[in-house]
Order: sequence, then C-alpha cells, then structure tokens
Amino acid sequence: MHHYIQDFSKHDGQEVTVKGWVANKRDSKTNIFIVFRDGTGFAQCVVNLDDVGEEQFEQAKRLTQESAVIFNGTIKKDDRQIGGYEVAVSSLEVVSTSEGFPITPKEHGDRFLADRRHLWLRSRRQWAIMRVRNAIIMSIHEFFQTNGFVQMDSPLFTGSACEGTTDLFATDFFGEPAYLAQSGQLYGEAMAMAMGKIYTFGPTFRAEKSRTPRHLAEFWMIEPEMAYYTNEMNMDLIENFTRHVVTTVVEKCKLELETLDRDVSSLESVKSAFPRVSYEDSIKILRGEVEVNGKNAITLQEEDLQAAKDAIVAANAKIAENEKVIKGGVKKGKRNYLQSQIDNLKSDIKVAEEKVRNIPKWIESAKNFPDGEDFGGSDETVLTRVFDAPVLVYNWPTNIKAFYMKEVEGDPTHVKGVDLLAPEGYGEIVGGSERETDIDILLRKIDEHELDEKDFSWYLDLRRYGSVPHSGFGLGLERMVRWICKLDHIRETIPFPRRFGRLFP
Ligand code: 4AD
Ligand code: MG
Repeated sequence: MHHYIQDFSKHDGQEVTVKGWVANKRDSKTNIFIVFRDGTGFAQCVVNLDDVGEEQFEQAKRLTQESAVIFNGTIKKDDRQIGGYEVAVSSLEVVSTSEGFPITPKEHGDRFLADRRHLWLRSRRQWAIMRVRNAIIMSIHEFFQTNGFVQMDSPLFTGSACEGTTDLFATDFFGEPAYLAQSGQLYGEAMAMAMGKIYTFGPTFRAEKSRTPRHLAEFWMIEPEMAYYTNEMNMDLIENFTRHVVTTVVEKCKLELETLDRDVSSLESVKSAFPRVSYEDSIKILRGEVEVNGKNAITLQEEDLQAAKDAIVAANAKIAENEKVIKGGVKKGKRNYLQSQIDNLKSDIKVAEEKVRNIPKWIESAKNFPDGEDFGGSDETVLTRVFDAPVLVYNWPTNIKAFYMKEVEGDPTHVKGVDLLAPEGYGEIVGGSERETDIDILLRKIDEHELDEKDFSWYLDLRRYGSVPHSGFGLGLERMVRWICKLDHIRETIPFPRRFGRLFP
C-alpha cells in the first residue's frame, strides 16, 4: 500500500510511502530538498544525511528531474511548503532515472513545449489545468444528471453538415462520402423527442484554418436539447448551468486556481443575473451609441488604453530606479530581489504594450461595426467590458446563423439564437437557439444554405410526427476551461490539442 499526496491531511504525523517523480531538487551539505509529485499533488520531501545514511544520501543526490522514486518517511505539517505538508524521508528506492529531461524550470518557447506536450503535461501548471478540466466535466454531468437529463452519444461519422459547409472534415465511409461531426445537435433533437431532455458530451470537428487562441479543430462539446422549451427557457438554463459549473469548480479547485494565479473574484460575477441584450441593442452598445449603467463601451476602451500607457511609464520609471540602486552596489540578496522585480515589470510592460497596440484597432472596429454582421473576437471583448457578468445576446440576424434556428415571429430577418459571451475578453462560450418547427421554412432554409434536402429527410420527420417547440445549446468545453483558468491560449486546455498546423504528438 502507498499514500497519495492529496490525502496527506489525513496522515499528519504518520509514516507513509509515496511513489512518484522528482519535479525539482536543491542540495545542501546535509539535506536534499526534493519537490516531489505523484500525480495527485506536489510536496516537498527532505532527505537528511543522518536519517538515511551515506549510501541513500548519495543516491538521492544523484536524482535528476523526472527520475522515478519511492520515499518512506513521516508527514509533517508545514504551512510554508507546497500543499502545506512535508515528508521527512527515512529511506528511498530509485525506480528509474531520467537523463536530460527537456523541460526545465527555465522559460521555453510555445513551439518547443507543444512539440513535447507528452512531457509538458507533467508540469505543475498543466497539472492544475487538467484537474480544473476534470472538475468542469464532473460538474457538467452533475448538473444535467440531477436535473432530469439523459446523456446520449451522437454519431461522429455523419452524412450532412449541421453548422454550415465551410469547415467540414471530409472522410470516406466505406466508399460513401462522410464528414466528421461538427455538432451532435440534429441527433440530439431526435433523442429529445424520445427522452424529453437530453445532453450530448462528445468530440466535434471543425476544419477551421484559423490559428486564433480560441479555435481547435477537434474540441469537446456539450449539447443539451429540451422538448417544450422556448428560447427564454433556454436562456434560463444556460444561466443556471453556467453558474453551477463555475461556482462548483471555483469551490473544488482552490489549490489548482491558486497554482494558476487565477484571481477568482471576477468569476464570482456569475452569481449575479446575466444581462440579456438583443443583437440589435448590443451593436448600439458596441458602437458607443447607447450606455449601460452609465458605462460607454468606447469610453471604457479609451480609458483602458490610457491606463496601459500610464502603466508603461510607471514601470519604466521603477525599472530605472532599481537599476540605479543595483549599479550603486548592493548585497547579493537585495540585488536578486531588485532584478526579479525588474523582470516582472518587463513582462507587465509587454502586456501593456500589446494593449496599446490592440485597443485602437478594437475601438475602430467597434465604432464602425456594420449592421447585421457577426462579432469578431475584439467586438465581444469591447461589448462584454461594459457588463459585470456574462452576457446573453439573443435574436440574431437570420443570414449569419445556422439553418435550423427559429424565425422571430413577424420578423424573418431575425432568428431566436442566443450566444453567451464570457467576460475578461473570453467571448463566445455557448451558442444555442430555439429550433424552427415550420417544415416549409426549414425546406426553404435548407435550400438557401445549399444543403441537400435528402440528407435531412429524417430530421424533417421530427416536424411531421408530433412536432413541438424545442430548444438547446452547445458549450465548448475548452472555451470554458480557458475562461475559468484565465489562459491566453486554448492549446493548454486539452491534453493533446488538434488545431490548424498541429497534429503531433
Ligand atoms: O456556436 P456553435 O457553432 O453551435 C453549435 O454547434 C450548435 N449546434 C449548438 C447547439 O445549439 N446545440 O458551437 C457551440 C460552441 C461555441 O459557442 C464555442 O464555445 C464552441 O462550441 N466552439 C468551439 N470551440 C473550440 N474550437 C472551435 N473551433 C469551436 N467552434 C465552436
Ligand atoms: Mg456560435
């Protein structure tokens, strides 16, 4: 039997055996300090010369990063250490040694790390992200399972397009042309007529040749579909669901989010009501023509721009001051401290400089936003900035949305679609709608979207036999992970990302 780091609080003061790997190591004459990881957590193990004897002390000294090792020792509470506990080692057994592990504590480039994703996953940051992902998945199932939804698996080989024909991955299905599923929705609709409320949880594929920080070619989507639901009920569900997932994960993943330096106070915004804005109102807000609670979208960006410029001036002044002190001659400890401050300030400046480069473009795009267009990433950032919670934008222009969305009564130029836009620049994380039930409208739309009616004969049957109002939505799992963890890029949200230009490892 052995013990796991995540259970250390239950074994305070006891003898334990832990099995894992060396994440990091620091030596002194009589002690070796090892940051040890076992998959469930990180903890410091201290090997003392007198405690383990000469031979094992020498073995411990030779341990390299990622060598596999088993320690026996005693757990001691120590709040200063990672995880709050430390192991005083009494004996050790080296399982295997690792030579020249390529990912060291120093900084590495994005491509270098992506090429070594199979090893990068062991780092503390990736460990934290994957655990948050796991908690999100659990909380999603928990929400639906306790609210009367039946989980269904939709097919991944399909004969037709659901979300438009431009980003399909074509493949060959025993000689028949087939596509990898962009969405499970149409099958979800069939299942909802059989089960009432369902949700899919599976991989989806989009051949989008975009290298943006929020697009994957293979991502996991959660798609609930509910019979007898209007789009208003759909929006209530999106709101309750999002609130459940975010609050549960913030509660469960304190350590992980702390490891990621995630300030969770902004995630608390999900506790307040989500503003609901029609598309037409949202573009007026975006252009700065209409204010929200006294806040103007354009003015806010101008203020953010000025704040970024001021931050650069202040940081440069502080750097100059520190450099002057260092030049004047100071003790090593103080010098290191000042130098690390300089390094931090320099990375702050990089962030601020990027804002100074971007915000003027965002303002231009927002001010001149054309009627009836889809939002770009920066438009979502500018729009959500005026709100204090995630925003639901509903009633979208018909011609930028999928064929199956229900027309607004008396206004065929708009459909009952809804997007949930996350704050802090994370943008669309959910897309959904009420579904069209009028078979004639559907036939016309299928034609207008240049889809083949034959492929949809089964789907149209749902409107022939006991058709009812129904709605649903799709959550992009990786978009949710990215927002909750506050990651710059979606590539870190999934163990092995598949995106344009990346199929290895
Ligand atoms: O808005 P989308 O395209 O909607 C659908 O697929 C509908 N069938 C959903 C439904 O009503 N059942 O995609 C839904 C969500 C987006 O809001 C986004 O979070 C995510 O899927 N998504 C992507 N995530 C990562 N990479 C991509 N390329 C994505 N495309 C969409
Ligand atoms: Mg969408």
